[in-house]
Amino acid sequence: MTGRRDSNLRTTLAGIDLASPIVLAAGTAGVLSETADILDLARIGAVVTKSITPQPRAGNAPWRVLPERGAMLNAIGLANPGIDGFLREYAPRIGGVPCRVIGSAAGFSIEDYVHVVSGFALAEKMAAVELNVSCPNVHGGIEFGADAGAMRELVGACREAWGARPLIVKLPPVVIGTPTGIVDLAQAAVEGGADVLTLCNTVPAMSINVDERRPRLANVTGGLSGPAIHPIVTRLIHMVFQGFAREAGVPIIGLGGVTRWEDAAAFVLAGASAVGIGTGLFIDTKTPMRVMRGLESWVLRHGAASIGELVGRLERP
Ligand SMILES: Cc1cc2nc3c(=O)[nH]c(=O)nc-3n(C[C@H](O)[C@H](O)[C@H](O)COP(=O)(O)O)c2cc1C
Repeated sequence: MTGRRDSNLRTTLAGIDLASPIVLAAGTAGVLSETADILDLARIGAVVTKSITPQPRAGNAPWRVLPERGAMLNAIGLANPGIDGFLREYAPRIGGVPCRVIGSAAGFSIEDYVHVVSGFALAEKMAAVELNVSCPNVHGGIEFGADAGAMRELVGACREAWGARPLIVKLPPVVIGTPTGIVDLAQAAVEGGADVLTLCNTVPAMSINVDERRPRLANVTGGLSGPAIHPIVTRLIHMVFQGFAREAGVPIIGLGGVTRWEDAAAFVLAGASAVGIGTGLFIDTKTPMRVMRGLESWVLRHGAASIGELVGRLERP
């Protein structure tokens, strides 16, 4: 049943029609549509590109991806072809990708982001842009994700460069400050002009080889992803949805540790309108299809006509 016109997973996100709420996460599915070799992308809602910066980047030295207990630790360092390379090699193929394409932009200054987003604006078929304001892996890294004022300014500048098409802001999982820090940050992103929030990027983390007495990543620290972070992200979605997004009508893409349909359903109940999968793809390339099959039965069992009816429908304990 998945992927048929009448699938109960068909949904919309900030006016974009999606075949399903499943989104392939930035940096985990190649630069554009390389996963077409292993997945039927027509059944996926959207694929997010690798984060693109103004200049090409080789990324960090190895090791830059490591297995952890129930998780994965990475410090890729934004390896990507740069915006000119992207426009030359990848953008002409966007129209042939059988699902929505979301361009991920990253950088180290507002000018960097505006440069990349202005480039994406030339790609007519790109459905939305996602701002990666929270990559924790690059030295001298981005602090936009830690400061509501800087976030508002950054998003405002990108909104101008991008025009009226949907603008997504991907938040970091750790916000220093008040317990409601993530809600303040989400609100700042929307005040700046975000239509959708992605929650969230990897959790800053570190691993040590105790025999060598060395950090295991060449970059020393990295970002944790995979099942271990799922409960952390569930709480963030719950906080942002209850604290602000539900009332403001701002959709959330829940992202972090989804490997089973139950993980995706939990995000939907917490308030997510779409669900990203990253590390789950590395664990098993069939993860998105398995998750979609499980979600379809779940929606039916709960008497809903479509998955959208179950967003935020958490009962009190
Ligand atoms: C190898 C790898 C590369 C990633 N690259 C990016 C990236 O370029 N841009 C970005 O916004 N997030 C990047 N991420 C973060 C993922 O998009 C996602 O937010 C995170 O992994 C949590 O989801 P997951 O547990 O389903 O993987 C990367 C994650 C991994 C594991």
